[in-house]
Amino acid sequence: MKKNMARLLAAAMLSVAVNGPVPASETTEPSGVDVNDIASLQRGAKWYVNYCLSCHSASYMRYNRLAEDLGLGEEMVMQNLVFADAKIGDTMDIAMDPGQAKAWFGTTPPDLSLVGRSRGSDWLYAYLRGFYMDENGAWNNTKIPDLSMPHVLWQLQGIQTPVYRQETSASGFTREVIDHLELQTPGLQSPEEYAGTARDIAAFLEYLGEPAILKRKNIGEWVIAFLVLFTFLAYLLKAEYWRDVH
Ligand code: HEC
Repeated sequence: MKKNMARLLAAAMLSVAVNGPVPASETTEPSGVDVNDIASLQRGAKWYVNYCLSCHSASYMRYNRLAEDLGLGEEMVMQNLVFADAKIGDTMDIAMDPGQAKAWFGTTPPDLSLVGRSRGSDWLYAYLRGFYMDENGAWNNTKIPDLSMPHVLWQLQGIQTPVYRQETSASGFTREVIDHLELQTPGLQSPEEYAGTARDIAAFLEYLGEPAILKRKNIGEWVIAFLVLFTFLAYLLKAEYWRDVH
C-alpha cells in the first residue's frame, strides 16, 4: 500500500514537471449572455456558420427552425447562412468526414448541439477568449490545455501570450500557473468588440442547446398573466355568491 502511494506521488510530481505551466485556478467571469436578445443570436449564428460549421455540426438544428426562431426570412437564411448545397429543411451538418477530421486534428471535432447545456455560456465565453500562443508556437487554451482546436478567430482577436506567476500549493509544491493573458498582436477587433463576438457565439450555442428556451420563457409570461386574470375572475365570482348570503 505504502509503496503504491509512493509511486502515485512520484507519478504526480513527474507529471507536473513534464506538463510544465498550467492555467491558473478557474476564474470565470459572467458572460452577460442574454438569449432573449435576438440581434445577439443572429450575430452568433452568422459567426457560427462562418467560423465553426466547417468543423462542428449542429445536427439537432434545422435551418428553417433557425429562420423562424431568429425572425429571419427563409430566403435570408438561404443566402447568408447556408453555404453548402443544403436545403432549408436540412439539419446543420458538415461535409467533413469524421475519419479524416480525426486524422487532421487527432480528435473528431464534437457536434456542438448540446455544448451550451454541458458547458454553459460562461464557460464558452471564457473558452473563446482563452486562446493563446504558447512557448512552442502552438495554439493553447486556458479552459482545455493542449487542445487540438486551432484558434479560428485569431484574426479577429489577435494573438495573446501568457504571463505566469508562481503558485505554492497547500502541500508546499511550487508551480508556474498562468496569471493572465496579454494581447501581443492586436486583431481586427478591439478587446471589447471581441468580447461581444464571444458573447454572441456563446448566446447562440446556449440557444442551440435548448431552442425551446425562447418559447418557454414567452409562454411562461402568458401563463402568469392568465393566472392573475383567473384569480381576479374567481374573486368576482366569490363576491357575487356571497352577496346573497350576507
Ligand atoms: C478546424 C476545425 C475547427 C473549427 C473551424 C472550430 N473548431 Fe472547435 N474544436 C475542434 C476540435 C478538433 C476540438 C476538440 C478539441 C480537443 O478536445 O482537444 C474542438 C472543440 C471545441 C469545443 C469544446 C467542446 C467540449 O465541450 O469539449 C468548443 C466549445 C468548440 N470547439 C467551439 C468552437 C467554436 C465556437 C468554433 C467557431 C468559432 C469552433 N469551435 C471552430 C475543431 C474546430
